[in-house]
Amino acid sequence: MGKDPSNIHEALQLRQETNLLRTLSKNFSGSDFISNDYLGFSKLGLLAKNSSNASGSGGSRLISGNSEFIEETEKKIATFHKGDSALIFNSGYDANVGLFSCVPQKNDLVIMDELIHASIYDGVRLSYAKHYKFKHNDVNDLKDHLERHKGSFDNVFIAVESVYSMDGDEAPLKEIIKLKEKYKNVFIIVDEAHAIGVFGRGLCAGLEDKFFARVYTYGKAMGCHGAAIVGTKELRNYLINFARSFIYTTALPDHAIANISIAYDLLKENKQQPLLRTNIDHFLEKVKDIPAFIKSRSAIQCMVLNNNKKVTDLEDKLKKKNILSKAVKSPTVKEGSERIRFCLHAYNTKQEIDTLVKVLKAE
Ligand SMILES: Cc1ncc(COP(=O)(O)O)c(C=O)c1O
Repeated sequence: MGKDPSNIHEALQLRQETNLLRTLSKNFSGSDFISNDYLGFSKLGLLAKNSSNASGSGGSRLISGNSEFIEETEKKIATFHKGDSALIFNSGYDANVGLFSCVPQKNDLVIMDELIHASIYDGVRLSYAKHYKFKHNDVNDLKDHLERHKGSFDNVFIAVESVYSMDGDEAPLKEIIKLKEKYKNVFIIVDEAHAIGVFGRGLCAGLEDKFFARVYTYGKAMGCHGAAIVGTKELRNYLINFARSFIYTTALPDHAIANISIAYDLLKENKQQPLLRTNIDHFLEKVKDIPAFIKSRSAIQCMVLNNNKKVTDLEDKLKKKNILSKAVKSPTVKEGSERIRFCLHAYNTKQEIDTLVKVLKAE
């Protein structure tokens, strides 16, 4: 083997010394409070048994990887989310990077929530647009940004997540819409990754025409892979022409598309959602007297413990009791807001939840 550049070794060593080294785990047996399979579509085998063709797509969508089946599925997605069109990407990461790198231009501004997902931030950084972050869920701070830059840019894009992945709380979508309507050429983009399936069609449901684009990812409650951007037909054509993460990659194979399509059928059946909601309600009732929990109605519940050691110790303690959770450390989150994250699922039992809460109450 050849020799690696010295900076690789130094960077890893620094991570090791500061207890921040990321490693890949393999053992995921135990009570699942860690995966994003909120509705259990994947774990309960509701998708895989229906998928047939396991071969690759053989090319990018623009060369040989397109099919009637993908386009039919995109129409189904657009209809479900009450949009004019949908375009499937290979992952939520690809969708956000593609969208945010090609839509905002040199004379545009992107204002995003400070907790915005890395995929959006990476996309924005690839664009030539200027960008700022506003304080998490703070509509007044967002307003200050809009006021400060009024008239200075051709277009302004506001980027939010309907449910935030590290907090589980929701963006104040209605207030953001009200604010946006006071300005010209302001467009809202919402990432619905953690809302689809957990809150029916997502939190944009009923407000569809207020958003320029919505991103639905399929690796969370939908239990499969991929993502779709829902917007106008013109936006779809634009992305096909300019979104590099769409253009320069092999299309998802048919079995992945089939799973997306089946996941939508399962959503319509609405069998798993009430089970998840019952578990969320049960969990919230049990932890209502633990003030360290961030207020959340979603499947993501976080207990803030304020330092990296405390969260890793609790994660280890839970692991010893066969409970899987995730310590979210700084710098992934701000120093002082380190937390342990629990993802709730339709398939968690009441006993699992009660056992978890018992450990938390002993903290
Ligand atoms: C808010 C949000 N957007 C996008 C993504 C990326 O989605 P995917 O896992 O499909 O790449 C994630 C996943 O971590 C996410 O939490």
